[in-house]
This record gives sequence, structure tokens and C-alpha cells, in this order.
Amino acid sequence: MVKLSKVINALSMIHERSNRKIGVLISGRGSNLQAIIDSIEAGTLNAKIAVVISNKLNAEGLVRAKDHGIETIFLDHRDYSSREKFDLAVVEELKSRDVSLVCLAGFMRLLSATFVRAFPSRILNIHPSLLPSFPGLDAQTQAFDYGVKESGATVHIVTPELDAGPIVCQAVVPVSDSDTAELLAARILSEEHKLYPEAIGIMLDGGWRVEGRRFLRS
Ligand code: GRF
Repeated sequence: MVKLSKVINALSMIHERSNRKIGVLISGRGSNLQAIIDSIEAGTLNAKIAVVISNKLNAEGLVRAKDHGIETIFLDHRDYSSREKFDLAVVEELKSRDVSLVCLAGFMRLLSATFVRAFPSRILNIHPSLLPSFPGLDAQTQAFDYGVKESGATVHIVTPELDAGPIVCQAVVPVSDSDTAELLAARILSEEHKLYPEAIGIMLDGGWRVEGRRFLRS
């Protein structure tokens, strides 16, 4: 006789694979959110944005989501007495909408270990440099000022350490002698807009695993 627990496991694996609902977390402009919306609407990304959550009331990304009929939630982190409590409230909203992937798109907050544990290897972030170079804020200016000849963008799985999780994919952007930090940032951003939807598709399609720091596709 087949054990009930095995059947439940198999069913939950099938559900996980067929669940293409994502939650997007933002704090501002939302141009990456827009790129995700556009890719879904163009049919190049098979996903559904179940909810967009912002910790900033006036985030432009909230307007972008509403314009496309996507549910939005504003949760002010200052209303919570700790990072954990805020994170738990966000997790609850995501879980109650059954999202299988969480995408940070300019979400300007570090996630607690509690948040990360709620979605193991199921949280993505996009960062405007070739990690592990130039983590943290103003990565484009950091790279420009350092004098690198190539920078770019990285999509990685989120861990509680800042910009340090396994790398899903990267795009390289050359730096020219006539560049400014602003021009470089703009070229990196347009690469981000292609890279993030692609990475989300990879994650949702499955057939990947994480070994140590390495993200591998089988
Ligand atoms: C992007 O540069 C992204 O790499 C970084 O924050 C910025 C968000 O921009 N994490 P936007 O809000 O998606 O326009």
C-alpha cells in the first residue's frame, strides 16, 4: 500500500512546480517590476503576480501595479516594533496568496532569517553589479569610481547576508572611457530589465538545485 505521506509529498511537489504565482516587494520606482509585468503581458514570462508589497506609501511601483490590475499592499515597517515582526507580516500576506517565489525589486530592506526560512531558496534579488563585487548601496557608482572595465547586474537567491546568496544569472556591461556613473547605471538598468524576467522563468520552471554556493541547472 502507498503511504499517505508519500502521496501528500508527491502532490505538494507537483503543486510547487505548477504554481507560478509570485510576490514582488518594492520600495520605489519599480522599473524592474514594470519589466516583469511587461514580460508576463508579452507572453515571454509564464508567471502571475499575485501581489506587490511596498514599505513606502508613495512608491511609484505601486501605481504601475495598480495600472495593470495587480493587487497592492502597503506595509509601513515603522509600524512594527522589530524587523522580525514586520517580516512576519509580509510573509503572512505572501503565504496567504500562495506565492511560490518572492522577488525583491528595489526593496530597500534586509530580510531577517525568519523571512528567509519561510521561503527556502525561493526569494530572488536583483543587484546592479557583478557580485561579489560592489555589494550594498550605489553599486554602479562604486564600480565606476573603482575604475572597473566591466560591471553588470546579478540575480541571486536571498540569504540573510546582504547581496551574498547563490548567483542565478548575471549580465555583463562594459564600461567605456567616456562613461559617467549615470550613463553606466542606465545601461545596467536596461540589462536588469531583461535579466530579471529571465531569472524568474528559470526559477519557476524548476530543474535547478543549489550545491553550496553554486546554483546549478540540470
Ligand atoms: C535596481 O537598480 C536594482 O538592481 C536594485 O534597486 C534598483 C531598483 O530599481 N536592487 P527599480 O525600483 O526596479 O526601478
